[in-house]
Amino acid sequence: MEYGKTLRPGLVQIRVLDLEKTLDFYTNILGLDIVGQTSDGRVMLKAYDEFDHHSVTLRKADEAGLDYVAFKVDSRDTLELMARQTLGFGYRVHEIPANTEQPGFGKRYSFKISTGHVFQIYSDVELAEKGPQIINPDIWSEQPRGMKAQRMDHLLLYGPNIAEAETFCKWVLGMFVPEVCNNPDGSRLASWITSANKPHDIAFVEFPEPGKIHHVGFYLNDWHDIGNAADLIAINRLELDIGPTRHAITRGQSIYFWEPSGNRVEVYAGGYTAYPDNPQRVWDASEIGRGLFYYSAELIPSFFENVT
Ligand SMILES: [Fe+2]
Repeated sequence: MEYGKTLRPGLVQIRVLDLEKTLDFYTNILGLDIVGQTSDGRVMLKAYDEFDHHSVTLRKADEAGLDYVAFKVDSRDTLELMARQTLGFGYRVHEIPANTEQPGFGKRYSFKISTGHVFQIYSDVELAEKGPQIINPDIWSEQPRGMKAQRMDHLLLYGPNIAEAETFCKWVLGMFVPEVCNNPDGSRLASWITSANKPHDIAFVEFPEPGKIHHVGFYLNDWHDIGNAADLIAINRLELDIGPTRHAITRGQSIYFWEPSGNRVEVYAGGYTAYPDNPQRVWDASEIGRGLFYYSAELIPSFFENVT
C-alpha cells in the first residue's frame, strides 16, 4: 500500500449567528450556490467552479467560529493509512460513517490537533449536480454572481502549539511548508502549509486560545475581481478589516472583511506557485507587517486580536 496525498481542504463547517442574513451574504454577495439544507437546518453551499457536492456548511449557533475543516485525500487506502498514522501521532480518532451529518460525503475521520481545531479527512464525496462542465466545457454554466468566488481556498487558524500542528500536517497529511515566520528566539510565530501548488491550503498563527479561526479565504480570478469585491463590501455596508492590498507572504492579493455573523472572510487572488522542492521562504517576526500587508508595511492591530 502506497502512502498517498492530501488533495486540499474540501469542506468547512462555519458557525453563524444570524443564518438568514449570513446566508444572504454567502449567496448574493460572495456568490456561492445553495446545494441544500440538512434535516437539522444547516445549509450546504458551494462555489461555481467546485466539482464536489459542497464545500461550506453554515450552522446556526450562539457563537461564531469554525466547527471543523475536512481535507480530501486521494484514495480510500490513503484515508485508512492516514487515520492510523493520526492515531500513531497521538490524536484520538473518531470515525463518522458515510452520509451522516454531511450529505454526499463518504466516511470521514475526525480528530483534534494541538491547536484545538477539529480536523477531518475523507476520500469520497459525490460530485455536485451543478459542477463545472467537463465535455467541451464553457468557462461557466451560469454567470457568476457578486464577488464571483471560484472556490473555498484556504484557512488561517489561531491556536497554541502550531509547531506540532505543522509537524502533523507534514508527517501525517503529507503536506509541505512553503513559508514560515519565526520569533527572535527561533520559535514559530506562523506557518503557511500546502498539499499541492497553492502557496497555502492552511496557515497557523501561534495564539494562547485554542480552536480560533482568523478567516476562510475564497479564491477570486484576479485583481480586477478583488476591486469588484471591494465595491460590493462598500455597497453592502460590510465591515472592512483591510484592503484591497497584497500579501508579500504567499503574494496573494487580498481583502479582509467581516460577514454579518462576525466571521472574518478573505477574498484572495494570485499567489505564487508552490513546489515541494522549492527552498522555504522565512520571515522574521519584526518584518511580519510587510509580509502581511506589503503596501502599507504596517501590521493592523485587528490581525492579532480579532478571531472567532
Ligand atoms: Fe488568507
